[in-house]
Amino acid sequence: MHAIGVDIGGTKIAAGVVDDEGRILAKTRRDTDPDDVASIDAAIADVYRELTADFEVREVGLAAAGFVAADRSGVLFAPNIAWRDYPLRDKVAALIDAPDVRIVVENDANAAGWAEFRYGVGRDAQDMVLLTLGTGLGGAVVTNGRLVRGAWGVAAEIGHMRVVPGGHYCGCGHQGCWEQYVSGSALVRDAQAAAISQPARAQHLLDLAGGTSAGITGPMVTAAAQAGDALAVDLLTGLATWVGEGAATVAALLDPELFVLGGGVSAAGDLLLGPARQAFAEQLSGRGHRPEASIVIAAMGNDAGMVGAADLARVLD
Ligand code: BGC
Ligand code: NA
Ligand code: ZN
Repeated sequence: MHAIGVDIGGTKIAAGVVDDEGRILAKTRRDTDPDDVASIDAAIADVYRELTADFEVREVGLAAAGFVAADRSGVLFAPNIAWRDYPLRDKVAALIDAPDVRIVVENDANAAGWAEFRYGVGRDAQDMVLLTLGTGLGGAVVTNGRLVRGAWGVAAEIGHMRVVPGGHYCGCGHQGCWEQYVSGSALVRDAQAAAISQPARAQHLLDLAGGTSAGITGPMVTAAAQAGDALAVDLLTGLATWVGEGAATVAALLDPELFVLGGGVSAAGDLLLGPARQAFAEQLSGRGHRPEASIVIAAMGNDAGMVGAADLARVLD
């Protein structure tokens, strides 16, 4: 039977009809405003109507970029979207008016991690950690083949581990969160700052951005780095070093066999993996006396969230 998965990020939603083998049969998307939560509800209802014109579904999984309640009914808090104790399931249910369809809210990174574990690069793993490097930094922890949810549903909020006391402010209200060093937003912040402080070095990036530092985006930094631009390579190397060092700390707690890097920044591929693996090796406690986790790029790209959300919506736990 088919389910709909909806991946709800900061600025857009992507939705698809997914079969019970994780295959996507149809897809659609909408732009959204992270400050206007009612517009997100409306966009979800709209993609639901579009997709159910051609497919019958029994479940809708909503992958939300925030702290999801243990009963999977809504979002307690989100650093980058204006959800506060938000009953997302019931809001959407009221709009789509399909009482027989089950709606389940999941954390977006948990959904993406679950998809990689079931159908992607984590297929052969039992213990893995997924990191999604996008607007925020999301995490999914699979231990002994099960998604770790914690006592209250908000386990694996890995982006808000503090890595720098007194560091950059985070959307969660604290300072020095890991998210502020490895997300796509962090990359853009640092690239834009470099374009102001070192305009000559940033010439390639500024050209891509139409001349203004504010026009620089994450994909531009990746493209420039892939073309060999020294500043862009440095920016990605710096980010990747934070990824590897943080992963070594995570390994101290969880001892996974695999770290999977997803999200927009993971498009940088080897430019990310090389320095991340090196920093991980340098920071891993007991190195040389323990097996080491692999660090790899996610296989399912932008589809992981929707596939995982659809899949998890079928599971009643
Ligand atoms: C949020 C997480 C989310 C991640 C990726 C973080 O800022 O706290 O809930 O999974 O961003 O979207
Ligand atoms: Na998570
Ligand atoms: Zn934070």
